[in-house]
Amino acid sequence: MSHKILNGKKGIIFGALDHNSIAWKTAEAVVEAGAKIVLTNAPIALRMGSINELAEKTNSPLIPADATSIEDLESLIIKSTEYFGGKIDFVLHSIGMSINVRKGKHYTDLNHSWMTKGWDISAVSFHKLMQVLFKNNAMNEWGSIIALTYIAAQRTFPNYNDMADNKAYLESIARSFGYFFGKEKNVRVNTISQSPTLTKAGEGVKGLQSFLKYAEKTSPLGNATAEDCAKYTVMMFSDYSKKVTLQNLFHDGGFSNVGVSQEIIDSLE
Ligand SMILES: NC(=O)c1ccc[n+]([C@@H]2O[C@H](COP(=O)([O-])OP(=O)(O)OC[C@H]3O[C@@H](n4cnc5c(N)ncnc54)[C@H](O)[C@@H]3O)[C@@H](O)[C@H]2O)c1
Repeated sequence: MSHKILNGKKGIIFGALDHNSIAWKTAEAVVEAGAKIVLTNAPIALRMGSINELAEKTNSPLIPADATSIEDLESLIIKSTEYFGGKIDFVLHSIGMSINVRKGKHYTDLNHSWMTKGWDISAVSFHKLMQVLFKNNAMNEWGSIIALTYIAAQRTFPNYNDMADNKAYLESIARSFGYFFGKEKNVRVNTISQSPTLTKAGEGVKGLQSFLKYAEKTSPLGNATAEDCAKYTVMMFSDYSKKVTLQNLFHDGGFSNVGVSQEIIDSLE
């Protein structure tokens, strides 16, 4: 990417765990586009993942924060604004986790305490994050906040389990909080609904490999990769998308608007 469309902009990237993470690719892309960033993830992910390597590569500080803890989020925002010497222009929420998916619990037999924990991490954390940013007046005017989501929020994908419900909740929070962030601070809030992607979180979904092939055959442009998603996010953090807000933006090679593709019909005949 040769255009420095994020020159002078400062932002926080949540959720880079390893080389495959969508947030990892996004961190690399925003820095390449001229931005300065703070990286953050849950304390346990900092111990398990390889995020130190990314921090070194992007020359960014790494500040641990459990996204379900208001205390951690407040400390992260204070430390980040101190580091930047001013307010924040963009934030990426790239966080998802379902204990039910991990442990192979069927949707008709969910453990509801795990469901609540997954909901808190995958959806409510987005509200907590925005509430801390809002109350601390930490975002610059015309800033941009993005969370990553999946089409299972609108359509049924049996193996996506309780993550489907979490994503529906996440997308609703984007619209509800986005209204107030727009009205009072001129900050935009959107979700990007990404193609299935092979990552640590993606791996947990039963039958992902076959589903990747199905989505590839269904999407006229093929599946969007993590790198493609990173580039789209760069645009959404730039001044080229100033008036886009409260949207769920499908970034999926066209998958969301296809009923059935010829390749799928051919494969069944
Ligand atoms: N992989 C896919 O197929 C796909 C498709 C569409 C959307 N998404 C979404 O993209 C986002 C990023 O996922 P990914 O696929 O890059 O996988 P990933 O496993 O690399 O990223 C998930 C991240 O969430 C972090 N996390 C978990 N609990 C946390 C907590 N309490 N506090 C802070 N961070 C926490 C993990 O440490 C990890 O870095 C998720 O919201 C996911 O649902 C993924």
